[in-house]
Amino acid sequence: MITTPTTAAPQRQTGGLVPGSEFELTARDFDNIAGIMKSEAGISLQSNKANLVYSRLAKRLRILQIKTFGDYCALVASPAGRDERGEMIAALTTNVTRFFREPHHFEHLKTAILPPLIANAKNGGKIRIWSAACSSGQEPYSIGLTILSLLPDAPRYDIKILATDIDPNMVAAGTAGAYEPGAIAGVPPALCQRWFTPVKDSPSTLRANDELRSLVTFKKLNLIGDWPMKGMFDAIFCRNVVIYFENDTQAKIWSRMVPLLSPNGALYIGHSERVSGPAERDLTSDGITTYRKARAK
Ligand SMILES: C[S@@+](CC[C@H](N)C(=O)[O-])C[C@H]1O[C@@H](n2cnc3c(N)ncnc32)[C@H](O)[C@@H]1O
Repeated sequence: MITTPTTAAPQRQTGGLVPGSEFELTARDFDNIAGIMKSEAGISLQSNKANLVYSRLAKRLRILQIKTFGDYCALVASPAGRDERGEMIAALTTNVTRFFREPHHFEHLKTAILPPLIANAKNGGKIRIWSAACSSGQEPYSIGLTILSLLPDAPRYDIKILATDIDPNMVAAGTAGAYEPGAIAGVPPALCQRWFTPVKDSPSTLRANDELRSLVTFKKLNLIGDWPMKGMFDAIFCRNVVIYFENDTQAKIWSRMVPLLSPNGALYIGHSERVSGPAERDLTSDGITTYRKARAK
């Protein structure tokens, strides 16, 4: 009798934090993964995130043909697993973003922050803005579009937006600056038409044009690591990222941002975040999740 070879279905295991799954994720594996996420990225993973950790990392085990989470943890903890640690962090971070998310921040930027800065830039001054945790670029490009809406020849002036993220895939996506129709929907049509161009072989994809891209520089930067920037920023957008950090890490980040803000500079934070720790003394509220640095006395 001829038998047809069949592909064996993956064996389901019964124990672990995610019963019935292909790979067993033990409490110890979870703790190891959570430990690395905290020490390397500041991200706090509670045990109720076991399903999320499983679903995002099971793909990595399949790609690497690793049979158990125990072996995966051994790899990411080893010096040889440095690259995979980066992949793990990228897989476990949340990159949700959109153009003009939390529109009141862009309105505040446009009406309260940019007008005097633009007047100064026209006289040879500079404008510096930091999008710290920029994901795939929608936030820094929304800042760029806000500037261009007031100053269409902004690329002629000394205006720079620094966009940073821990995830190199996000840095690459932002640098490319190409967005599918669903992602571009948040851009007002007039701005979209003026500052985006259809990609040649995929016309429904729109790419930020050279002028818009020239305003933004993307770099990989870990918010809990070193910050090599020397100059000050007129505005910092640090939104929807510290929510993943523990309270003491959040307070440290705000304290490190204060000296980087110019006098009267603005700090924009996410809708469910708040400034905490010593930075509270140096920042005053200027609207919803919007702060200004006190002017030097
Ligand atoms: C939810 S997105 C927020 C994007 C954007 N700021 C917004 O509000 O739409 C969070 C981003 O933070 C990044 N991130 C997480 N931990 C980070 C860290 N330690 N340093 C820098 N970026 C980090 C993630 O890679 C992700 O792109």
